Amino acid sequence: MTGSDVPSGADGPEVVGAAAPRVDAGTRPVPAGLDARAAPVIAIDGPTASGKGTIAQRVAANLGWHYLDSGALYRLAALAAIRAGAGFDDPGPLARIAATLPVGFAPDGRIRLGADDVTDAIRAEAVGNGASRIAVHGAVRDALLALQRGFRRPPGLVADGRDMGSVVFPDAALKVFLTASAESRADRRHKQLIEKGISANLWSLLQDLRTRDARDASRSVAPLVPAEDAHVLDSTTLTVDETVGRVLALWSARG
Ligand code: DC
Repeated sequence: MTGSDVPSGADGPEVVGAAAPRVDAGTRPVPAGLDARAAPVIAIDGPTASGKGTIAQRVAANLGWHYLDSGALYRLAALAAIRAGAGFDDPGPLARIAATLPVGFAPDGRIRLGADDVTDAIRAEAVGNGASRIAVHGAVRDALLALQRGFRRPPGLVADGRDMGSVVFPDAALKVFLTASAESRADRRHKQLIEKGISANLWSLLQDLRTRDARDASRSVAPLVPAEDAHVLDSTTLTVDETVGRVLALWSARG
């Protein structure tokens, strides 16, 4: 989540947890007279490392809208599960962890789990793999649903993930399925990790990515597939600017 685009209020980090109303997680209550459901949503779904996050943040900034990185919520739940010593295969404890996640999204972009700043920790490959594994459980997905919908508020929301257009915001005004070849995605992820000072091996990243793609696409609950009414955008040969331009053009051209 970007700092300025996070719907968490303007005056400082807001940490929410089990005691907070689920729909207000990470947000201020929607002012009277404004119907959050009326806020338009642009859903950007796609496989891992397809550049969804970068593109969604840029589109949100361009439109002056809020931004939701739904993958961060699955990563936070996976990290919380690891810390609690929970396995990735038993949906009961995982759903309880997801339902009571003490997440905090600060305006400066930092992400917290309870009092801990986990902005970098949730980007580790082990946490990403854990997120993909816990995401197969319907109970975990249900537990995160209201939290995700709580980010919808005026003037609009750009949400990225796997099922933004198909499940979480089926009434999204624009649905984009952003993809790119596995090789170019592995290459991008490799560069990102190296830039952050995290050591990474391109070949094993490519294998992990293929495994994760297969798991995300084949799970029975909310599999990674383009929504019927999604525009499929292949960014393999496009720059970030060009890809953002295509999404904004789709938004301007909507009927
Ligand atoms: O986008 P990401 O790599 O940060 O997501 C991590 C994992 O979380 C991904 O492999 C599958 C899961 N996920 C999901 O199932 N649904 C979403 N909307 C977002 C992420």
